[in-house]
Amino acid sequence: MDAQKASITALVCGFTRAYHAKNDTPKIFDDNWAECLLSPEEYAFMEESVTGLLNLFEPETAGKVDEVTARRLVMQKYNSSTVLSRARFIEDCLEKAISAGIDQYVILGAGLDTFTLRRPELADRVRVFEVDHPASQADKKDRLMRAVGGVPKNLVLIPVNFETDDLRDCLLQNGFDPGKPAFFSWPGVTYYLELEAIRNTLRIIAELGAPGSGLVFDYADDTAFDPARISDREKKLQSITRQTGEPMKTGFVPAELEEELSRFGFGTVENLGPAAIEERFFANRADLYHAFDTAHFIHVEKM
Ligand SMILES: C[S@@+](CC[C@H](N)C(=O)[O-])C[C@H]1O[C@@H](n2cnc3c(N)ncnc32)[C@H](O)[C@@H]1O
Repeated sequence: MDAQKASITALVCGFTRAYHAKNDTPKIFDDNWAECLLSPEEYAFMEESVTGLLNLFEPETAGKVDEVTARRLVMQKYNSSTVLSRARFIEDCLEKAISAGIDQYVILGAGLDTFTLRRPELADRVRVFEVDHPASQADKKDRLMRAVGGVPKNLVLIPVNFETDDLRDCLLQNGFDPGKPAFFSWPGVTYYLELEAIRNTLRIIAELGAPGSGLVFDYADDTAFDPARISDREKKLQSITRQTGEPMKTGFVPAELEEELSRFGFGTVENLGPAAIEERFFANRADLYHAFDTAHFIHVEKM
């Protein structure tokens, strides 16, 4: 991503959670704070942009439906499923970790995450470290200032570029305690990094995370980067993120990722593929939300 500009995909994810909170029932992930981090103008701009994307995804339908329907089709069929279900998966795992006594929560590539604002009853029991690209984090800080007058008291903001900075030093210098287990989430980031930066980050988490530490992240499988197997939806999604200056770069073969993580000392708790994600988060819905064909969620624990 552009070193000087806040992440646009982070803004889109924040809008996605805000839209879902306002428009869909039942909730996959209920983020009633997401809209507070966006200005009314940004929200309106995002709504309009999303509506126009029906021309890309379903040119045969665009023009035949009204704006609200066009927006709902894009959000439910093409944009939001992974953003919402990974957030739910992460916080389901986090809740269990906090109940088991973990009191450090590190959100890597936090974007417009609202955990500290939205779940004060849980957030008060943990020290939360939000790690993000310096430009994205400066923007988040301004948004927190406008929304609630500053950074919540138990939230530590740590600017880190995973491709150039030393995550280990940054966490240690900002109060992370490697002597105690922690819970790490890494939502919506691996797609955008080179393999070397992903491996480096995993190695540091493995070194810093005491036994019992948890790590959850989502990733694309290898079909997303294979011209012979990529789906039309995924191809179009990748062309959009490329245009925002945040090209998707990396995916994994699920079994090989588990093997790689085990070499770092992580044991797999769950590694959910599209069918399992569909069953857990989208079964019995009457709307158009479904698991995406290339998205996977993995939960591992440091042994
Ligand atoms: C798709 S957004 C996801 C944001 C948030 N996790 C969510 O789910 O809403 C990608 C995030 O990865 C971060 N990111 C991308 N490249 C990065 C890098 N090289 N170093 C640090 N953060 C990076 C962006 O700043 C952004 O917050």
